[in-house]
Amino acid sequence: MTQEIQRVSPYFSDPAPANALIDDAGGHFRVHARAYTDQAIFDLEQKQVFSRIWVYMGHESEFGKAGDFKTTHIGLQPVIVSRGEDGQIHVMLNRCVHRGAAVCRELRGNTPHFICPYHAWKYSVDGRLQAISGENDPSGYSASFDKPEGLRKVPRVDHYRGFYFASLNPDVVPLADYLGPTARQLIDRKLAQAPEGKITVQGRPFVAVYKGNWKFQSENIIDGYHFMYTHRSFVQLQAKYGDTTGDFGVHKGGSAAEMSKNRNLGNVTGGVHGHGINQKPVVGYDDFFTGAFAGHFSALRDRYGDEELRWVLGMGAGCIFPTFGLIHNQIRVWRPIGPALTEVTIYPYSLNGAPEEFNQGMLRSHERFYGPAGYGAVDDVEVFALNQQGLSASDDAWLIMERGMEKEKRLDSGEIEGLPSSETVHRAFWRQWRRLMNSN
Ligand code: FES
Ligand SMILES: [Fe+2]
Repeated sequence: MTQEIQRVSPYFSDPAPANALIDDAGGHFRVHARAYTDQAIFDLEQKQVFSRIWVYMGHESEFGKAGDFKTTHIGLQPVIVSRGEDGQIHVMLNRCVHRGAAVCRELRGNTPHFICPYHAWKYSVDGRLQAISGENDPSGYSASFDKPEGLRKVPRVDHYRGFYFASLNPDVVPLADYLGPTARQLIDRKLAQAPEGKITVQGRPFVAVYKGNWKFQSENIIDGYHFMYTHRSFVQLQAKYGDTTGDFGVHKGGSAAEMSKNRNLGNVTGGVHGHGINQKPVVGYDDFFTGAFAGHFSALRDRYGDEELRWVLGMGAGCIFPTFGLIHNQIRVWRPIGPALTEVTIYPYSLNGAPEEFNQGMLRSHERFYGPAGYGAVDDVEVFALNQQGLSASDDAWLIMERGMEKEKRLDSGEIEGLPSSETVHRAFWRQWRRLMNSN
């Protein structure tokens, strides 16, 4: 955080800057528009949120062999994630130690080393500085030159069942504790859909940028309230042409009338670290055992039993605080660029051990709803931009997030469970945001 930002931000001198932006007194829950629009709040989030907790980096299937890498971000900070010759996953800042250029400009690939595009300093795939071009030239470096070791390592890297996270904070809580029961259940039930208990990221990701704050996506991916309204054109298509995606589990909702009826099934859970999940027992359970993939589902039933399998197949969506989501057969990652600019990356995946035809069907179904020409994802992105537009209308807008407050219950784990279209998960998100923004 630069001196300049400290000087211009009124929030740096406030020990509890988020208190003014969340009003939960008297059984209400409201969030102020400035939490989404204010540049100083955005800057403070980089320090207080993104630099202190675990941020998702990638899935093990993206780094199958030594030299596999991708570039991504922790908040605004560019990083390289790679599998080294040692077989380990490394995360380092994508910043040359010479004069600061990003040494890697590809989104992903495989390489024996990185060579900085500016003056060609060479780094191993795990970030060690291997060679300085022209090091021994007459105009090179003196004997007292303090040769750097390499790219700056991000201090903590860990994974949960193949999902890799990193943290800039060396003292961050252990990853499994950070995920807690809510986020672990999200990952466990998603992986339980695969006969081998693993997934494989497929193809090239789809990247979109929207003109809105990053927190709109965090809220939306677990929002059980909007579907029938935001995605009304999709619901109307379903009503007219029927359910053409059902066998593959993406938006298997039957007719529009059935979708409407089922919208109150299941629950949402808000985790103690701000994570949220939105799930329900799968609709049309018996049909899974008569269709083309009856053998696949029967094997899962033998393993999990009817009750758990209903929930495994019905695990809808989750947000792992702050910017990582799983929804249907998709990993979704979003990153802040500015208070009103966010990039979303969507990685569809297949289920290891499932029939090839089933996986292909799931991917086609994914494309129909979430792809660049899909029915659904564009609706949400349009709403995020409308959110931002609306919030620019006033500097004193309070957004209402108290749906379902009366009906929620606290679980033994400290998590809070609510009814499917309640804003329980949003409140969990914002409470964690407030804790981080306020604490030292
Ligand atoms: S900035 Fe990388 S080699 Fe000069
Ligand atoms: Fe949506």
